[in-house]
Amino acid sequence: MLDWKSFPKPILALAPMAGYTDSAYRQLIKSLARSVVVFSEFVSADALHYKSVKTKEMLKFSEKEQPFIPQIFGKRPAHFGEAAQVVESLGAAGVDLNMGCPARKVVNSDHGSALLKNSKLASEIIEATVKAVKIPVSVKMRLGISDAKGLLDFAKMCEASGASLITIHGRTAKQMYLGEADYTPIYEVKKHLKIPVIGNGDIDSVEKFHAKLGNLDGLMIGRATMSNPWLMKEIEKSLTGKRFRKPETLKGKLPTILKHAKLMIEVKGERRGMMEMRKFLAGYVRGEADVKQLRQKLVVVETYKEAEKLLKDFLGKLAKK
Ligand SMILES: Cc1cc2nc3c(=O)[nH]c(=O)nc-3n(C[C@H](O)[C@H](O)[C@H](O)COP(=O)(O)O)c2cc1C
Repeated sequence: MLDWKSFPKPILALAPMAGYTDSAYRQLIKSLARSVVVFSEFVSADALHYKSVKTKEMLKFSEKEQPFIPQIFGKRPAHFGEAAQVVESLGAAGVDLNMGCPARKVVNSDHGSALLKNSKLASEIIEATVKAVKIPVSVKMRLGISDAKGLLDFAKMCEASGASLITIHGRTAKQMYLGEADYTPIYEVKKHLKIPVIGNGDIDSVEKFHAKLGNLDGLMIGRATMSNPWLMKEIEKSLTGKRFRKPETLKGKLPTILKHAKLMIEVKGERRGMMEMRKFLAGYVRGEADVKQLRQKLVVVETYKEAEKLLKDFLGKLAKK
């Protein structure tokens, strides 16, 4: 059974990202850096309560992803409990509760970061989930709605309600993704809690990982991995005093890119898998010279063979230059 207190520190975590951190992407990250703890895209507790087949499908994972932590969102304590039981029955190592999503659609229906201003309901949700399952329950949150004044009390409430780990994204809900993530209030929270605290926001290099870790139990990384999954390996290696240089050229990146596409197809079938792969392909070639035409073709690609040929032809032309 996963125990966050004794789990090796610092924890290196892949952030939950809707539309990105699906099973294929999580497997790719784990194949590069085994020690990463992977979180799923958020899934609706209500949908699991209503036995949505599509939502249950989103929770499929490979044992290679362990410790795998699905994230659920909602606002009804009983539904959280039931959803967590589904997650547990599927064999996940833990369950994470979303109290940080700032998207208008989510907040307007009192889900996600709206819970930051409803400490009583948030506490009921945590308690109901903890009571329903044996696996550890964690919470992911932001600094607050518009400032960090209530953060410490909220974090203490999470601990008192039974959460065994919290992750804090160093922005307020109002900020969305503007400005820089502020880690100062997160370091302060860590001083007052017994459970592990993970920081999150804007980590995009090995240097920044080490500079921001401070007194925290770990850091969670999201966006920077999208076009640079090798970052996780760079950080993992640096934690054991070793060095890994990410591939600098598209030629060097190609085996990992194609592996990602193969995993996508394995998980979602070729049609859907390649459709969902398009955004990643566009990200992988970003920054290459004379790439405009290639990108335009990659974002409408339909098959693996087509993507492989486009990338290899591009590299062939580069080699001739
Ligand atoms: C496309 C996208 C989808 C996201 N989906 C989720 C989600 O489902 N649940 C969640 O808690 N946070 C979600 N986030 C927030 C990230 O987990 C993370 O907190 C945020 O991106 C800051 O970390 P970063 O600077 O390392 O990306 C999402 C972020 C992005 C960019």
